[in-house]
Amino acid sequence: MTSHLKKVELHCHLEGAAPPALTLSQARKYNIDISDYLRNGVYVWHDFPSFLECYDKVSEVYQTEEDYALLTETYLAELAGIGTIYSELIVSPDHGKRIGLGADAYIAGVGEGIRRAKASSGIEARLIVTGERHFGPESVIGAADYAAKANNPLITGFNLAGDERMGRVIDYALAFDIARDAGLGLTIHAGEVCGAFSVSDTLDVVRPSRIGHGVRAIEDADLVKRLADMGTVLEVCPGSNIALKVFPDFESHPLRKLKQAGVKVTISSDDPPFFHTSLKREYELAANAFGFGDTEIDEMTRTGLEAAFVDEATRRELLGRL
Ligand code: ADE
Ligand code: ZN
Repeated sequence: MTSHLKKVELHCHLEGAAPPALTLSQARKYNIDISDYLRNGVYVWHDFPSFLECYDKVSEVYQTEEDYALLTETYLAELAGIGTIYSELIVSPDHGKRIGLGADAYIAGVGEGIRRAKASSGIEARLIVTGERHFGPESVIGAADYAAKANNPLITGFNLAGDERMGRVIDYALAFDIARDAGLGLTIHAGEVCGAFSVSDTLDVVRPSRIGHGVRAIEDADLVKRLADMGTVLEVCPGSNIALKVFPDFESHPLRKLKQAGVKVTISSDDPPFFHTSLKREYELAANAFGFGDTEIDEMTRTGLEAAFVDEATRRELLGRL
């Protein structure tokens, strides 16, 4: 039982959190046939590329500022309902552009959802703008530029998601330079679909304070030590890793080994309904599948707040709530 524990989430893609029932009602509203991607209340995909395709199709049924406000408010209300005090949402202005809404209206809708959720539950949230590798390096630079110039206090970080096999980290270095110069927190998907080399590349080229997943660092003992020595925080999403077959089962998942080796880890849900999970379930897995006690789980939650992309006053206030 982890329902009594306060929770923090640093790694969740906004469109990836879309409840299937909401997606279906949105699809009906716009007369979009989503039946190849959503059937019997379940998102349909079978491997990593088809998951990304499904994600992009689902995103297309959220078309207006209000749609995005509703999606954001809905997800944050769910998080607040299970005792979550802080959430970082990964948002992709490119998805806003692709449906013709535009990046500003997309972010404005998400911001409105954050304000509504905070007013009703007190949950604090920030945004991490992401580039998507499968939209190409130019679009990733565009996303970094957008985040750097947005001058929006809710946008506090920059990420790189999408198909990790597309290009090497060095191909995206300029985007991270732009984000770093703008004072944004840096995190990057690495060591999920690709192996340890992708995590080493990331440390060599970007030196982010956090890495999304990073779990395949376990394939290289020296790299695990390097992560521990550098204090790099891994945003670990066990349910996602099993659903995407990064590891065959929870017994072979390296979360416990990484923590024991001194690597800083936190728990998140990534794209919860796509992976038949939720932040609630991820915390339960920490207890039941990985055998962590309350103290160890609290430690991972605290690590999340210590690594959060927030101003120091907000961090102190949130740590006080733990
Ligand atoms: N976009 C949404 N979920 C993702 C994941 N798990 N890896 C890479 N890109 C993503
Ligand atoms: Zn992710």
